[in-house]
Amino acid sequence: MTKPKILSTRPLFPAARAVLDQHFEVDYWAPAERITREELLKRVADKDGLVCLLTEKVDQELLTHAPKLRIAATVSVGYDNIDVAACTRGKVVATHTPGVLDDTTADFAWTLLMAIGRRLLEGDAWMRSGTWPGWDLDQLVGGDVWGKTLGVLGFGRIGRGVARRALGFNMRVIYSDAVRAQEDVERELKAEYVERDTLFRESDFISLHVPLLPDTRHLISRENLGKMKHTAYLVNTSRGPVVDEEALAEALESKKIAGAALDVYEHEPLVHPALLPRRDVILAPHIASASLDTRTKMAVMAAQNVVALFEGRRPPHALNADALGLK
Ligand code: GLV
Repeated sequence: MTKPKILSTRPLFPAARAVLDQHFEVDYWAPAERITREELLKRVADKDGLVCLLTEKVDQELLTHAPKLRIAATVSVGYDNIDVAACTRGKVVATHTPGVLDDTTADFAWTLLMAIGRRLLEGDAWMRSGTWPGWDLDQLVGGDVWGKTLGVLGFGRIGRGVARRALGFNMRVIYSDAVRAQEDVERELKAEYVERDTLFRESDFISLHVPLLPDTRHLISRENLGKMKHTAYLVNTSRGPVVDEEALAEALESKKIAGAALDVYEHEPLVHPALLPRRDVILAPHIASASLDTRTKMAVMAAQNVVALFEGRRPPHALNADALGLK
């Protein structure tokens, strides 16, 4: 019997390849350069399944090019790259990789939070320049973390992980979300539900953990930045377009806020040019989930979703299983 054909837009990790290779004939895109849209459309044309990254759009155009496609499995928890409604219309299962990256991402939000608050990268650059004259009283004075107020915007698994880590820093944690958490969660995390406005006004650090939705696009707007304390810092490990980068650059320039640490960008891989020279900004290359263990788990999870479908099971992390009536 011929095996189903899968396109993987990256070679993945050996553990994930081992899962796929057992069941499928897999076309791995291996060159160092990322697959172009044109190449993607060409290669997916005869495939039964696709394993892709968050940088590859699975939209109506791609689905039209891939008449045999039964599943699109993104190796990411965020799935704004997938037009789930179009997949459902085309009877294509869309899957993602929730859960396995929560703690790694929460760790990295904290890495950014502490690094921006304590001006770590400015210090590092100074040391490497060979011009540090030695200790002085007012060098690189930053903002304290311990005892301050952390505002978590989006209180899902990752937001809660960030809040949990704040317990060790004796912080006041406030959060805002469309849905209020259960009382026992609030108690365990010592987290207080507040209106969004209160969060903007009272936080010393704001960490973003919302998905990208029409409602959350440019949530960090000129207006909301204007509500923040001038000593406050913004940390974004969610999705770039949640922040209006132009407005952020202006807020930093006019000292409306103290700094920002970003892992994601409005127009990846580009960064707003006004942010590039700023010393009050940390720019990370979308690596919040990038530990070897976690990225491996994500790739394996995507592979397992594909295997499940072709074995006649409901892929465990399908986004449109109910809409497609999968049992
Ligand atoms: C990374 O950004 C992800 O969504 O997994």
